[in-house]
Amino acid sequence: MPDLDTIRARYLAEIAEAADEAALEAVRVRALGRKGEVSLMMRELGRMSPEARREAGPRLNALRDEITAAIAARRAALADAALEARLRTEWLDVTLPARPMARGTIHPVSQVTEEVVAIWADLGFSVAEGPQIETDWYNFDALNIPPEHPARQEMDTFYLRRAAGDDRPPHVLRTHTSPVQIRYMEAHGVPCRIIAPGRVYRCDYDQTHTPMFHQYEGLAIDRDISMAHLKWVLEEFCRAFFEVEEVELRFRASHFPFTEPSAEVDIRCSWKDGQLRIGEGEDWMEILGSGMVHPKVLAAAGVDAEIYQGFAFGMGIDRLAMLKYGIPDLRAFFDSDLRWLRHYGFGPLDVPTLHAGLSA
Ligand code: PHE
Repeated sequence: MPDLDTIRARYLAEIAEAADEAALEAVRVRALGRKGEVSLMMRELGRMSPEARREAGPRLNALRDEITAAIAARRAALADAALEARLRTEWLDVTLPARPMARGTIHPVSQVTEEVVAIWADLGFSVAEGPQIETDWYNFDALNIPPEHPARQEMDTFYLRRAAGDDRPPHVLRTHTSPVQIRYMEAHGVPCRIIAPGRVYRCDYDQTHTPMFHQYEGLAIDRDISMAHLKWVLEEFCRAFFEVEEVELRFRASHFPFTEPSAEVDIRCSWKDGQLRIGEGEDWMEILGSGMVHPKVLAAAGVDAEIYQGFAFGMGIDRLAMLKYGIPDLRAFFDSDLRWLRHYGFGPLDVPTLHAGLSA
């Protein structure tokens, strides 16, 4: 019989060196597997003389038990080490500050557009939209704006470049929302009551002008609509929008090619300590342009001006936002950073969103 002490020492050393579960299992198979070295020796016992068996049996059993125990101990040690390693790599520092969460805010222009749409919806006006790239017909001619009108000069209007030889009439970035009047009446006829919010463009840039800004158009056409109706709905709108009981509007005679008569409308207000108060005081602030839709405009839209009449108005949305929420510089609306939006913006849950209602 081979020297059991040498065999024991060899296996115990291999077990101690087994670096993982698989290596350990290989040692076990070599020693104690069906054809393992120790198993084969135990099978020999049957062929031994009773004396030799009595001497070798207990020694072999002891060797088998010792190897079995050493493997179990090593397996437990390997498992512990694996757990230790996992605990070392997977620990969490629960004292770390939470990751910052990106939280969007609603731009004041969007917020005010939604407020405006909701108020006019209560007054029976639905929302219409038109393209921002317009033909000069819809933007100017159909609105009775003559070719020599200053609004048509390149210094005031963005014209789209035409390819050489393309002599179709020019496209412009619409300078106001008034072309939606024509498009809406053409498509849907009259009577009608709509507002048309959207972007408009002019070559202008200072504290109160940006090349792109937002307007909304109002249009109400029926057989007997008068300026009295215009005055009433505008007062209702201002009461609701500025959230004041008393508003006073002043109609100042003015001129727009597409309305006759035309009026610019001012609202009574005061500036106390740099703070604007609507509805009280001795100052007047212009808030919109308006008038009775010119018969030529009705005709351009295919409406019989002998039967139908009505009012139109145009109001600046950015300007409304500045007045209501005390925002000092219009330019900041479009070229300021996120801190500005955090200061003036609105949380997404502040008001129910009406964007679904803004599609054409
Ligand atoms: N379109 C005019 C502007 O942009 C406003 C306006 C609209 C005036 C409708 C009268 C009627 O200044």
